Amino acid sequence: MTEAAHTPRVFSGIKPSGGLTLGNYLGAIKRWVDMQDQGMETLYCVVDMHAITVWQDPAALTHATREVAAAFIASGIDPAKSILFNQSMVSGHAELGWIFNCVARVGWMNRMTQFKDKAGKSAEKASLGLYAYPSLMAADILLYHATHVPVGEDQKQHVELTRDIAAKFNHDYKCDNFFPAPEPVIEGPATRVMNLRDGSKKMSKSGASDMERINMTDDADTIAKKFKKARTDPDGLPDTLEGLQGRAEARNLVDIYAGLSNQSPEAVIAEYAGAGWGRFKPALADLAVDKLAPISTEMKRLMDDPAEIDRVLRHGADQARAIAEPILARTREIVGFVS
Ligand code: TYM
Repeated sequence: MTEAAHTPRVFSGIKPSGGLTLGNYLGAIKRWVDMQDQGMETLYCVVDMHAITVWQDPAALTHATREVAAAFIASGIDPAKSILFNQSMVSGHAELGWIFNCVARVGWMNRMTQFKDKAGKSAEKASLGLYAYPSLMAADILLYHATHVPVGEDQKQHVELTRDIAAKFNHDYKCDNFFPAPEPVIEGPATRVMNLRDGSKKMSKSGASDMERINMTDDADTIAKKFKKARTDPDGLPDTLEGLQGRAEARNLVDIYAGLSNQSPEAVIAEYAGAGWGRFKPALADLAVDKLAPISTEMKRLMDDPAEIDRVLRHGADQARAIAEPILARTREIVGFVS
């Protein structure tokens, strides 16, 4: 049995666990807006079911879900062009997630580096959900037969696992090409924004110190202070990109500048060749404020009307369900469930 060819469709998501960082913006949201504006069919999801794989205070989860939705809209995701919703409103994610738990192998899950990083030495105490998380992520993507998944570098392994799950399902159930093999789309200069105090670590919302990251809601003074204190080395900016080799912190600041200004790192180096940090850091801070301030102002305005955000999410969930339902119905039939 060969299923029809898959039309291009974009799916991606962000967990509403704590605030959003510049890493989420440059590695994901900003690029999602570009894909939407290229006219692709796009679904963007606040993945609240993923968030609860580690403990979330219920009121904080509700707030964070609305805040991530507000960030999407404020950054340029247009609910008239993209399907914008939260995961738990579409129960098909959980249903397909279960089926994929029965397709994915324990050995595959054991290779997931993010689980090892997150669970650390206390893996025995981690939730079962945290372990199964990549299988739910595969369901998020494949529930819509999505073909393109724009993510930061850290999610690459999970999208590859999604391809493995799709292939094994298609093979085991002899339904050639029913689930597509989605492509991770990891493009641009800022697919791995690093911690401002330690260039060997990713910038993340859960890092110990707030000085390590730029939050999407930081004010101008805070952004300027964080870049000023960002770790660098005694050398200023080199004349060529090669001059940044082995200088993770310096490279990171150049990449952030490139991501925010829609330029290549080469172009940034050409503009600032030989400049000291005393010149580059304030320019970077100004650029970041220029880009982020209008977004955070709009986020605040949207957050004043949570009922309107909920309405947008409900509408998006209706649209998402309409795509998912026939795929899920066919999946149940393929698996042999009586309905
Ligand atoms: P999450 O919520 O950790 O991150 C959301 C997106 O932001 C990207 N990102 C970064 N990009 C560059 N530099 C950084 N420092 C940085 N930090 C985060 C992530 O790569 C991601 O694209 N499992 C996912 C959420 C998810 C998902 C999905 C994504 C659930 N289902 C289906 C795509 C498709 C996660 O935890 O992302």
